Amino acid sequence: MKDMNLENIPENLKDKIIPDYSGDVVYECIGCGKEFSIDQFLYTCPECNCLLRLNDRNFAALKMISGRDWQRIFSFRRMLNIEALKGIFLYKEILFSTIPLEDVIYLGEGHTPIVRANPDLQKIVGMPFWVKNDGLNPSASFKDRGMASAISYINHSIKSRDLKDVLGICASTGDTSAAAALYLSYLDKSVVKSVVLLPKGKVTPQQLSQPLGSGATVIEIPGVFDDCMKIVEELAENYQVCLLNSKNPVRIMGQKSYAYEVAQQLDFQVKDLVVVVPVGNAGNVTAVMEGFLDLYRLEIISALPVILTVQSSHANPVYTWRETGTYTPMKVKPSVAQAAMIGDPVSFPKVKKLVAEHYREMFLSVELEETDIMEGMLEANRHGHVVCTQGGESIAGLKKAVARGLVSRNQTVIVDSTSHQLKFSNFQDMYFNSTFPGEYQVTTKKNFLNQPVGLAASSEDIAEYLKLKKK
Ligand code: F0G
Repeated sequence: MKDMNLENIPENLKDKIIPDYSGDVVYECIGCGKEFSIDQFLYTCPECNCLLRLNDRNFAALKMISGRDWQRIFSFRRMLNIEALKGIFLYKEILFSTIPLEDVIYLGEGHTPIVRANPDLQKIVGMPFWVKNDGLNPSASFKDRGMASAISYINHSIKSRDLKDVLGICASTGDTSAAAALYLSYLDKSVVKSVVLLPKGKVTPQQLSQPLGSGATVIEIPGVFDDCMKIVEELAENYQVCLLNSKNPVRIMGQKSYAYEVAQQLDFQVKDLVVVVPVGNAGNVTAVMEGFLDLYRLEIISALPVILTVQSSHANPVYTWRETGTYTPMKVKPSVAQAAMIGDPVSFPKVKKLVAEHYREMFLSVELEETDIMEGMLEANRHGHVVCTQGGESIAGLKKAVARGLVSRNQTVIVDSTSHQLKFSNFQDMYFNSTFPGEYQVTTKKNFLNQPVGLAASSEDIAEYLKLKKK
């Protein structure tokens, strides 16, 4: 591969800019520690049934390059015009080192902007912060990060293992299915089939339209996400399917890029950093914590950030665990943060381990009422942002943490806005039209309401309505 911009790269880094490192990545059980080859689709340990993570057995070799040089490599790499390195595989060596660049599928994911919160919104929240806009990914949520690594891995597996028949399947609250269907639809249809399992009536119309548009088989079942998850887990255990939920550690690999990008966007100065993350199935928060840990181990950053997790009181098993020390799966109630409406997060054991071994008191948790979440979203979007209900949940969660003294002004805060406002506009509609079913327990405030005004097609009528002054 040749690239014109290579000329501009310092001599001592030139041979490292285009990654040729291929690590020794294996599945590693988070329970018994046994390792398994990644030449198979595996989601739980065949020995003890615990979750798996991916481990690069050669990771220590990456320490031969100093943290400062890694910073330079990642920064210079952004200048290159090599498709496979344009997205999350910019961080290939620490993200998923064994996927050859020619097998990487890039659909435009990653490198989403961090946007300074509007000054008036900062006042409402109580401190300055930045919103990382992951709704600006191809399928309009952060799930594209994990799906890019999962589908690149599937693509690589098809080629290297000569697979003839792959059925990708996931359960979803809407965004995983949108991302899975999008990325799978890019692969060879004579080899790859795409199926998504959704809880009927519990994904938004926009989210439902996404896998339908991508040509996936969309199966709706009664119940909530947790019911769908159980079924795909059974299917993955007993049938030849490729599970595309974040239980598949290949997904987590891609989602770590969120942490790498945050660090890079802050010029790797992450002292006193707080990252606010809404939690559902707990894949995202796992990936964010693992991502920062990779950077810390390679001395690319000098400290781990505080992780502030946010949940609705209608689906709060992680918050309750943090408060009481006991983890109990729960039955969820309807929540406007519908994408995170999960009572038994699959990645919880990973969260527990990461907190016990690394993050400890730097893992914070707040819970919110449904009205707070709606107001978080509406307030943000009225101030120039494009956040979904989960992004609104993050912002309202930060406000609550500031009020409680958990986060203070001398810290730098990045709020994860996990998907785009438009995916969840039905909740805005219910708010504006006062049609929220009682079970959501959302109370509306007049000042947020907004409705279209029907007027005659006449400039005079419109001018009169707007009380415009004549020139
Ligand atoms: N925000 C959005 C927009 C989501 O779609 C999800 C999860 C979360 C936050 C929570 O992230 O599950 O990693 O803790 N959506 C999954 C799905 C469950 O099926 O789309 P998590």
